[in-house]
Amino acid sequence: MPLYKTIVIAPDTRVLIWKITESLDELFRDKPLKASSLARVKGMKSEQHQRGFLSVRNLFEVLGYTDLDLYYDAFGKPHLSDGKNISITHSYDFSAIIVGSYNVGIDMELQREKISKIADKFIDPEFAFLDKTAPDYIRKLTVIWGAKEAKYKMCNSRSLSFKDNMTVNPFTMEEKKGTATVEKDNFKKEFEFYFEEIEDFTLVYALEQDKCG
Ligand SMILES: CC(C)(COP(=O)(O)OP(=O)(O)OC[C@H]1O[C@@H](n2cnc3c(N)ncnc32)[C@H](O)[C@@H]1OP(=O)(O)O)[C@@H](O)C(=O)NCCC(=O)NCCS
Repeated sequence: MPLYKTIVIAPDTRVLIWKITESLDELFRDKPLKASSLARVKGMKSEQHQRGFLSVRNLFEVLGYTDLDLYYDAFGKPHLSDGKNISITHSYDFSAIIVGSYNVGIDMELQREKISKIADKFIDPEFAFLDKTAPDYIRKLTVIWGAKEAKYKMCNSRSLSFKDNMTVNPFTMEEKKGTATVEKDNFKKEFEFYFEEIEDFTLVYALEQDKCG
C-alpha cells in the first residue's frame, strides 16, 4: 500500500506512516541502497525486519530522500545529510518516520498484554496513577513505553534509564498527548509527547527545539 497517513506538525516537520503490504521483492524493486544498507538487509534474520527496513525507504522517497541521504552514527541513531532531524520506527505491519528541523523521536508498538509482565522494568512512579484493573491499562502502558523510547531516540544516550530517569506524568487516552520528565544527576527537564492509536498499534512521537533534554 502507499503512504498510510501523514501528520503535519509544522510546515517542515511531519510524521509519515507506511502500512507494509508489499512483498520483499516489491520493496527491493527500483530502490537505491548503499552497500552498507544492502549488507544490513541481507544480514537480517527475519523477513519482517527486512520489509520494515525497506518500507522506511519508501517513506524517504515521499519526502524526496533516498537511502543515500541517510547515515547512522556510532549509537545507531539515523541522520539526514541535509541536516534535518529524523527518527525511525518499524513494528510488524507498520513503519513510520518523523522528519523536521526539531529534535525528534518516534516509536510504534503493537499493543500486547505481555507488556504488563515487564511493566516494573520501565515504570516506577507511574504506578501511582495507573489502574491495573482499568480496561485501558495495556493501552496506557504502551503509550508510556513509546514515550520513553521516543525520548531515548532523541537523546541518543545509552545512559538514560527508562525506569529511573524518565517519568511520564498522568495523562488520559482521550488527550492524545502527555508530558514526561527526564531527570539525571543535576539535570531535570519536562518534554511533551503525542500519541495516536492505529489499528492495534500505538504511535508516539516527541519533538523539541533543544538538541536534547
Ligand atoms: C535502539 C532502540 C531505541 C530501537 O527501538 P525498537 O523499539 O527496538 O525498534 P524501532 O523499530 O522502534 O526503532 C528502530 C530504529 O531506531 C533507530 N535507532 C537505533 N538506535 C538508535 C539510537 N541510539 N538513537 C536513536 N535512534 C536509534 C534506528 O533508525 C532503527 O531503525 P533502522 O536501524 O531500521 O533505521 C531500542 O532497541 C533501545 O535500545 N531502547 C532503549 C533501551 C532500553 O532502555 N530499553 C528499555 C529497558 S526496560
